[in-house]
Amino acid sequence: MKTNMKNGKILITGANGMLGQDLAQVFSDYDLLLFDKNRLDITNIDEVEKVIKKEKPNYIINAAAYTDVDGCEENKDICLAVNATGPENLAKISKKYDIKLVHYSTDYVFNGENKNGYPEDYSDMDPINMYGQSKAEGEEAIKINCDNYYIIRISWLYGHGGKNFVDTMINLGKEKDELKVVNDQHGSPTYTRDVAEMTKHIIKKNLELGVYHATNSNECTWYEFTKEIFKIKKIQTKLDPCTTDEFPRPAKRPEYSILLNTKLPKMRSWKHALKEYLTSSN
Ligand SMILES: NC(=O)c1ccc[n+]([C@@H]2O[C@H](COP(=O)([O-])OP(=O)(O)OC[C@H]3O[C@@H](n4cnc5c(N)ncnc54)[C@H](OP(=O)(O)O)[C@@H]3O)[C@@H](O)[C@H]2O)c1
Repeated sequence: MKTNMKNGKILITGANGMLGQDLAQVFSDYDLLLFDKNRLDITNIDEVEKVIKKEKPNYIINAAAYTDVDGCEENKDICLAVNATGPENLAKISKKYDIKLVHYSTDYVFNGENKNGYPEDYSDMDPINMYGQSKAEGEEAIKINCDNYYIIRISWLYGHGGKNFVDTMINLGKEKDELKVVNDQHGSPTYTRDVAEMTKHIIKKNLELGVYHATNSNECTWYEFTKEIFKIKKIQTKLDPCTTDEFPRPAKRPEYSILLNTKLPKMRSWKHALKEYLTSSN
């Protein structure tokens, strides 16, 4: 591992996750401390304190989460422990040891009724599913328990390091001649690599603390997203748009969950990022 103390010491939680793996690559010129769930369970405050006290990082980047949106409806306790208590623990310990905390949240903290999108300071978090509820509680816990934080909201995430919508659709496309995909939920697909790069920008530029929105630009529906994936991968499967009602899931999904970015440099379009993801091996 390359180390560079001039840039500072960064501890990444959930380092084996999809975003965690890209963060580790993008921050490889920092002194990196990579912790997966087995080495640091963020739901255990004693464990968090023990590690932080020993390692004394300048930053904690929390990439740990319980991200199975439908699974959250069934496993409410785990979902709240990881997505709400975990950030609360990290916030308390960050404050105690004077460390900056970087945390990721989601478009699903909003109810999705606002067709114009949600700016960073939109005051009314009103989640409609358990995952969104737990992530909103995580945000609140950070805001209450520490001052030194960046909360970066992201959406519709995919990347090389984990199970994601893009790879699922490619696999389905290889198996099926015809597919129905939901065409009434709108969002901004976002590449983990771009989130990791933007996180580095925020840290390097020492931007003002607070809430940021870091999604790839422009929006689409899951159907339009799939159409683009199949176009790039030259998959011939026939695609049919369908409604959310035709495809019931345990967790309700917001209809318009566009995060407006009014504070950070504009990120490249989701189509551009998707093309890079699908034509690069890592
Ligand atoms: N995925 C999306 O579409 C999406 C959309 C918007 C926002 N986000 C947010 O973006 C961030 C990164 O998401 P991601 O998709 O990269 O997640 P991910 O791939 O599911 O990775 C999360 C990591 O956290 C680990 N973890 C779970 N419980 C933990 C615990 N108690 N202590 C420490 N680590 C634990 C997981 O380990 P195991 O796998 O071993 O459980 C996994 O390695 C999260 O904050 C997420 O809420 C994601």
